[in-house]
Amino acid sequence: MANVKSSALLMDKIYKNQRHFYDLTRKHYLPGRDHLIRHLAAPRGSTVLELGCGTGRNLIEAARAYPTCQLFGVDISAEMLKTAEANIHKADLSHRIHLAEGDATSFDPFGKFGIDTFDRVFLSYCVSMIPSWEGALRNGTKLLAKGGQLSVVDFGQQEKLPGLFRLMLRKWLARFHVIPRANLKDVLHDIAQDKRAKMRFLPLYRGYAYYAELDSSFYTRFMEKSGQIDLLKAENESHREIRKAG
Ligand SMILES: C[S@@+](CC[C@H](N)C(=O)[O-])C[C@H]1O[C@@H](n2cnc3c(N)ncnc32)[C@H](O)[C@@H]1O
Repeated sequence: MANVKSSALLMDKIYKNQRHFYDLTRKHYLPGRDHLIRHLAAPRGSTVLELGCGTGRNLIEAARAYPTCQLFGVDISAEMLKTAEANIHKADLSHRIHLAEGDATSFDPFGKFGIDTFDRVFLSYCVSMIPSWEGALRNGTKLLAKGGQLSVVDFGQQEKLPGLFRLMLRKWLARFHVIPRANLKDVLHDIAQDKRAKMRFLPLYRGYAYYAELDSSFYTRFMEKSGQIDLLKAENESHREIRKAG
């Protein structure tokens, strides 16, 4: 709990002033976000959650790309959420985008949003900012509905970019407590195995950014084909009961 409080204070400190020009300045140096939104391929009427939603920029773009979906955003920074709320209001999307303050590693949406799973969950450039980022990814997969997809975009290892550029970028990012995760692919691979999901991992822009998807519909289709869908439904139901009881 103390960690959550100190993370929230740190994020508020970083973003208290930056939030006013965040979207303008991040336009070019957080690439891959639109790639992620395009590949959400959110089905009609489905639900989409962003953990670490910041100014709401991605939620607004996703709401426009998937006009029949309901969107949800969580962030640990109350300051960032003020800007998100104002941006969403300005975009006239307050009826479709719902926000809550919370920690991506432990967020339980039922109390805030009245639902406990989502068809799509994504994390955009926040894995590199969350000290227990593996927990955030695991929590993200826990919040996936049957057949859902988790998507991630974040800084890569810049493996195909000049060494000096890489060094300078790392120094610059460290000033804002941003650490590109060298073992992101391995961690996602382990989570995919646990979740019985299919992983797609793609370095973008010569490794400047990494994009990944964990698609759990693969397992669902397999269970459907092999006539075990009732077993899968029972698994989901008991999971839901346990979450409600707990
Ligand atoms: C670099 S910004 C990215 C914002 C947005 N996802 C985007 O792509 O523009 C990182 C965001 O993660 C949030 N964040 C950091 N740690 C968090 C945590 N433990 N739980 C939820 N949000 C967190 C920060 O407050 C900040 O809004």
